[in-house]
Amino acid sequence: MDTQKLMIVGGKRIEGEIRVHGAKNSALPLLSAAALIADGECILHNCPRLTDVDAACRILNHIGVKCKRDGSSVITAADNITCHEVPVKLMREMRSSIVFLGAVLGRTGQCRLSFPGGCELGPRPIDLHIAALREMGAEIREEHGYLECSAPDGLKGADISLTFPSVGATENIILAAVLAKGTTLIHNAAREPEIADLTEFLTKCGAKIKGAGSDVITVEGVEKLHGCEHSVIPDRIAAATYLCCAACAGGELVLSGVNAEHLGVVIPLMQTMGCRIYTFGRDSIYINVRGRLKAPLTIRTMPYPGFPTDAQALIMAACTCADGITVFVENIFENRYRHVSELLRMGCSIKVEGKVAIVQGVKRLSGTELVATDLRGGAALVAAALGAEGVSVISEIHHIDRGYENIEQALRSVGADIKRK
Ligand code: UD1
Repeated sequence: MDTQKLMIVGGKRIEGEIRVHGAKNSALPLLSAAALIADGECILHNCPRLTDVDAACRILNHIGVKCKRDGSSVITAADNITCHEVPVKLMREMRSSIVFLGAVLGRTGQCRLSFPGGCELGPRPIDLHIAALREMGAEIREEHGYLECSAPDGLKGADISLTFPSVGATENIILAAVLAKGTTLIHNAAREPEIADLTEFLTKCGAKIKGAGSDVITVEGVEKLHGCEHSVIPDRIAAATYLCCAACAGGELVLSGVNAEHLGVVIPLMQTMGCRIYTFGRDSIYINVRGRLKAPLTIRTMPYPGFPTDAQALIMAACTCADGITVFVENIFENRYRHVSELLRMGCSIKVEGKVAIVQGVKRLSGTELVATDLRGGAALVAAALGAEGVSVISEIHHIDRGYENIEQALRSVGADIKRK
């Protein structure tokens, strides 16, 4: 049981530099891709130390891919895949383990996974993943809570149109298509930077992929892939998190190891709120926040390059004390306002009606006992607590550890009063 808590004494300005780790949402599909590599090893640099990444490594080890960590790198070798089943216990450790389906099926012709089910963001359907893999020749049955998948004659290329640009479905199709016979076209593909990172890695391994970053991706199947060395892109949501921490607490912060292009909507929005933000060098962002922020009117979450759903709770934390009203429209997940009930306990004024949340800025928040309800919602509570008066104690922080490498150490290094106990 998770008994650790974060204790935060709010009201301290932050100042200093934080180096942002590699992207969780890139590391997971990249590790999954490692299962496709028949010869040689892959070295993934800038691979964040997160509980979700550890869980992915355990899944790989279970199916026969050797996976070991060396500092911030993870080395994989998949010469001998012995198993195509991911047991329930390992699936439960990492909700997004559906990302192993396309790769394991593509490499071994079989895959057995326990059905992923719901998660803290509401139901997590996988109909798009399944329909696409069926078009590629997979036979998929749902039995006794398991997905039984096989491709007795191997997978073949297909012309696939996604009804929604799902990130996970796009990744699964790419992973299945790189070793399939013939060419696969994905229409209405997701355009998130994590997709381009995956295709760049696979291309280094010998895959033939065009169009990543656009909404039509073409994958020409090849016989075999080989190992390579690759560096995971910076975590754009961790970067947005630390920007929001500065927005809530006030102060000035330099973020290094980031890619500002991936924050193309978040940075201008925070600038309209009154945060002074500059990018400099190839990989640094400077933020300076003084005084009260202005509410940014309306925020609608959208697929990339729109405003990311993963940053919604974080920006909401920054809006709770801004001057004016902000209207949030959550278009991606149906149950993504669970942090609101916790923010209300801090004295915020927020009304939720379906996918809309209306935030009226208040004078100040007060620290209290809080529960992290999910990964980004939990991080939003940390940001809010940094700006609040008094002490906040956040429990259920295992959610936060899924996506942040030692968040308390990063924030303490810039002057925040935060400790794990
Ligand atoms: C990924 C990210 C997550 C982010 C999300 C949207 C990872 C590990 N997670 O999740 O942090 O919030 O993208 O940017 O990369 N959907 C269906 N059917 C499907 C698949 C998805 O209806 O088969 C729906 C989902 O319920 C959701 C929407 O599509 O409402 C977006 O989901 P998707 O883009 O697939 O998100 P994930 O890949 O699960």
